[in-house]
Amino acid sequence: MVMTAPQPTTQRLPHSTPQISPQSVPQASQSEIGQLEPERDDAIAFEDVAVTYSTPGDDQRPVLSGIDLTIPRGQFIALVGRSGCGKTTLLNLVAGLVEPSEGAVTVLGQEPRAARRHLGFMLARDALMPWRDARRNVEYGLELRGIAKAERRAIADHWLEAVQLTHAQHLWPWQLSQGMRQRVALARTWALDPNVLLMDEPYASVDVNTRLALQTRFLDLWQSEEHRTVMFVTHDLSEAIALADRVVLLGGGRILDDVTVQIERPRDLGAINANPHYQQVYERLRGQLF
Ligand SMILES: Nc1ncnc2c1ncn2[C@@H]1O[C@H](COP(=O)(O)OP(=O)(O)O)[C@@H](O)[C@H]1O
Ligand SMILES: [Mg+2]
Repeated sequence: MVMTAPQPTTQRLPHSTPQISPQSVPQASQSEIGQLEPERDDAIAFEDVAVTYSTPGDDQRPVLSGIDLTIPRGQFIALVGRSGCGKTTLLNLVAGLVEPSEGAVTVLGQEPRAARRHLGFMLARDALMPWRDARRNVEYGLELRGIAKAERRAIADHWLEAVQLTHAQHLWPWQLSQGMRQRVALARTWALDPNVLLMDEPYASVDVNTRLALQTRFLDLWQSEEHRTVMFVTHDLSEAIALADRVVLLGGGRILDDVTVQIERPRDLGAINANPHYQQVYERLRGQLF
C-alpha cells in the first residue's frame, strides 16, 4: 500500500511526467560505496538503534539492538532474516511508526516523521480500495495531496502505462489478478514520486511466475530513472540477492552480515542463479540464515 504523508504542508509541485527527484543521486558504483561521505549522502542512518516492545502483561520484548546501518542515497538494499527477526520493525522505524528505545534514526537528514512525505510504502497486501477502479486507486495519494484533476490524470496515465495497465484502468480491484493488483499498487506508489521506497515482502503473495514478472517490471522502472533508495524486506534469500545492491542479514535482533552484490545491471532475473557471484553470496548467507 502507499503510505502517503498525512497532508504535506509544503509539497513538491505536481508534474505530469516523472521527473528525477532532486534528492536522489545516481547510484554509487561498487567502488564508490565505501568512499561516500558519511551523513551527507546517506538516505537512511541507524545509529546504535535498539527497539524493545512493551507487551500486555508488562513484558519487555527486546526485538532489535545495536543496529548501526547507513544506506547511501540511491542504494537498493535488501533485508533478509527469518520471520519475527525484526525486519518490519526496521522499516517502521524509517517510516516513523516505531520509535527507537535507544539510538537514533535519520531519514534524508531529518527525523523520520518529518521525512514521511518522501516515502513510499509497498506491502504484500496491496490494500487497493475496492470502491475505486484501478485508475482512481493510482490517483488516491495525489488526491490527498490536493493535486488538480487534470494533473492527477496525467500522472496516473503515465504510471498505468509504465506498469502496462492502461487497458485495465477502469477495472475494479476484484476484476484484477493478484499480479495486476500489485502493479496498480506499484503505479500508485510511484505516482507520488517518493525518494525512498519501503517494501515489505511485496511479492510474497503471488505465484512464482507472476513474481518474476513483477520483480522484472519493478527493476526496469527503478533503473529507468535516477535511482530511488529502496529498502526491500524479504525472507526469500534468492529474491534479495537477485534484486539488491546489498543484502543485510538480520538475526537475533542484530545485523549478522552485510554483503555487497556485485552483479551488473540490467540483470536477467530468470537466469541469475547461474551467476557464480550470486551463488557465492547465496552460500555465504544461507549458512547463517538456516
Ligand atoms: N507492536 C508490537 N508490539 C509487541 N511486539 C511486537 C510488535 N510488533 C512486532 N512485535 C514482535 O517483534 C518481533 C519482530 O517483529 P517484526 O519486526 O514484524 O519481524 P519480521 O518482519 O522480521 O517478521 C516479533 O516477535 C513480533 O511478534
Ligand atoms: Mg515482517
